[in-house]
This record gives sequence, structure tokens and C-alpha cells, in this order.
Amino acid sequence: MPNTLTENFVEQFKRCRVTADETVGIIAELGHKDEYVAAAVAAARQLGAGALVLHASSLSSPMLPPYEADGREVAPLLAAAGECDFVVDVTVGGLIHSDVRTRITGNGKRMLFVAEPNDVLERLMGDGDLRQTVEAGGSRLRAGSTLHVTSAAGTDLTADISGDGLPITHQWGYVDEPGRWDHWPSGFVACFPNDRTAEGKIVLQPGDALIPWQRYVQDVVTIEVEKGFITRVSGSGTDAHVLNDYFEAWHDSEVWALSHMGWGLLPRARWSAFDVYDPRSLYGQELRSTAGNFMWSTGSNRFANRETPAHLDVPMRGCTVEIDGVAVVRDGALVEE
Ligand SMILES: [Fe+2]
Repeated sequence: MPNTLTENFVEQFKRCRVTADETVGIIAELGHKDEYVAAAVAAARQLGAGALVLHASSLSSPMLPPYEADGREVAPLLAAAGECDFVVDVTVGGLIHSDVRTRITGNGKRMLFVAEPNDVLERLMGDGDLRQTVEAGGSRLRAGSTLHVTSAAGTDLTADISGDGLPITHQWGYVDEPGRWDHWPSGFVACFPNDRTAEGKIVLQPGDALIPWQRYVQDVVTIEVEKGFITRVSGSGTDAHVLNDYFEAWHDSEVWALSHMGWGLLPRARWSAFDVYDPRSLYGQELRSTAGNFMWSTGSNRFANRETPAHLDVPMRGCTVEIDGVAVVRDGALVEE
């Protein structure tokens, strides 16, 4: 029998090492995801921890412009959340690329974002094996200098990942150490290549995914990249037209930048999820995590001071991902170590 939402939160909070002497802070938006707030409070109390709910009027960014940053609720939110040991983010969009996240985790606090439906949360819950795989991927990125991605469809992209300070995001879906952020569920590793270094061509093919539009690519789309920015999106079908329309809508050159790049590592995550579920009920973590996908993204990148709500994550099938000439993914499948 499937677990209740509260039972899954208890399981997850145990993985996050919530203890009886801690206070759990829950950040939410008024009138949204109330059942997640209730489950988080119940789980914290069941483990003997305190629970504080912080409701902002709104923290979500628009999907399309106009957009004007409004940080009025952020300072008081940070003041309260900063007093908690473990912060659970159940806002609609997630404080993923925001200053709020950086300032909470920078203070040594653990922070977890939760958005997916209950059965996805349960089915894709992370464990020690996944953590190990993700960390091994991160080590490969950290040691590398050049990321090179190719595909039979015509993708040929390189990015500079050299340097000790390369930002790497390890996502195994729970936060068991100070200063760590994660998104439950997750199973992938990614880096933010050195800014303005990506060069080449990405060729999307049907069955690749567009997140947060939560749908599959339907046409072949060619995306040309120079000095870290998309310079041209072309193709004969609807997808090229719609992608251009989306990028152009913002009237902001930063929207065309490439952001993080990495690959999925969770064998339980299925490509079919956008058809199996109501796709708009999903946040896309299942597609982001499919084993052997190459995922790249656009727009927001806090490591390049690029703040825009425009952000697409694009998991691709059938790619070969090499670090300094050694494949970690070949033709869309993980290369066993
Ligand atoms: Fe992303």
C-alpha cells in the first residue's frame, strides 16, 4: 500500500537527519500546497522536532514577462528561516535560483525543496547508493577541464569546466549535511561551466524534454551556441518557433545564456512520466533524473549573477557526454565505472 504524504515526509526527514532538538522551518505561499505544509509539520512533530510555518503572500516568479524583482518579503523571511536548523521549501516555483537559498545554506542550514506528487516522492526517494553515484559524477566534473557532448542527431557542444571553483550541484534528493540544498526527489549531477565558454551546436530531437513546460520535444531543433549564448534557434516545426518566441518575450539578452549542464543518474526515473501522469501536476524531477540523459539549461545562473525567471531545463536522449575525452554517458546510457 502506498504511503501517505506524511509517512513519506517522515521517511525523508529521517534521511535529512532531523532530530528532536531541531526546529524545522517551512516556507510556503499563502493558499498553495497546504497539504505539504501540514505533512511537513506532522513529520517534524513526529520526530520530536519543532515546526515553524512561514507563509509569504507570494514568492513565485512569472512564467512569462513582465517581471520585476520584489524582495520585500525576503529579509523578514530570511531572519526567521535563519533561526531554523532545517528549512523545507514548499513554494510553488521553489527558491532554487534565488538569494534566499544561497543565504540559508551559506549559513550552514539544510534546505530541501519539495514539489512533486506524493507517489513520485515515494517512488524516487534517494538512498546511499544514489548518493555515491552522484558524488562520483561530481568528482569527474571537478577533475575535468572540458565537457564535450555529441549525438547522432548532430549535437556537438563543448564547455570549459576547468578550475577549482567550478560550481557543481550534486542532487540525490535529501540533505544530510550542513549547508546542503537538495530537491526531493532528484538523481543527477550538474555543473555551471565557466561563463561564456560553451561553443557549438545542440540538436534537439523528438522525445527530448522541455521543463517547466512539462512536455516532449516534437520536432528537430538546431540551437547554435557562441561564447555561452544561444545565437540561433532554427527548425521547420512548431518547437523552434515557440522556443524563439519564449526567449524573445523577455527582451533580455541574459535569457539566451546557457546555464547548468550535467547528466541523470537514477535508473528508477522514467522518460514516460510526462505521458503517464498529468504533466502539469509534475515539476519535472523524473525527467531530469532519467539515467543517461544529458541535461542543459538556459537563463538564470546565480554563479554568473544572472537573475531572470526565464529558465528551461532540457534533458536529451541519445547523447554522449565526455569529460576530457572519457565518456560518462555513451549514446544516452550511463558508462559503468
Ligand atoms: Fe535548472
